[in-house]
Amino acid sequence: MDISQLKREAGVKACQMVEDGMTLGVGTGSTVAYFIEELGRRHREEGLCAHCVPTSIRSAEALRKAGMEVCDIDKVGRIDLTVDGADAVDPDLNGLKGLGGALLWEKIVAENTDHYVWIVDERKLVPSLRGKVCLEVVKFGSGRLLKELEECGLNPSFKQGENGPALTDSSNYLIELDLGEIKDPAFLATDLKQRTGVIEHGMFLGMVDEVIVARENGVEIIKKAIA
Ligand code: 5RP
Repeated sequence: MDISQLKREAGVKACQMVEDGMTLGVGTGSTVAYFIEELGRRHREEGLCAHCVPTSIRSAEALRKAGMEVCDIDKVGRIDLTVDGADAVDPDLNGLKGLGGALLWEKIVAENTDHYVWIVDERKLVPSLRGKVCLEVVKFGSGRLLKELEECGLNPSFKQGENGPALTDSSNYLIELDLGEIKDPAFLATDLKQRTGVIEHGMFLGMVDEVIVARENGVEIIKKAIA
């Protein structure tokens, strides 16, 4: 089975969780695109309506195209359910997000959500977090911040767009850290967050309630262990 088919299966499964009238957070990325497509199908064929809070301009546009209502996060109450993608998920359901550049809005939406779900294909499951960690940073002084991160051995580089550094939907820059295994994710998250100029990082630790994993042999749902 090809990867896009797995992504579609995860998106379709997550869409079964959506109930009419919900306030719904909608993530960003190629897997979420299938979720939005399925929302559109349910809207057309079943009359499904939801107050959708998008995590990026891209997702807002796709939702509108699918016929869904798009709402301002400041105009809704708590978000009932948010469905988003992820770049890597460890066995404790900690994850890395943001390679699509939308991590700041994604984290804000996630933090205002009652039930937070990721949809991934099986390649995203990893024994421990490693690889690219994305940071959204203010433009001012970002060159100095890059040097500071370099001196700490964090292998930073600006994410590039078509004409220079990529800009987020909040007009900030993105710095990607290219890391090996992250031995202590909580320590790194605190360290990154306290650096002046860093607005947010793409480590989503202990946030997700459920992960829908599309595998070659079917869809698996992994739920957060209750403490
Ligand atoms: C965007 C994200 C995406 O959810 C993440 O990058 C996964 O994307 P995809 O489904 O395309 O692999 O965090 O900021």
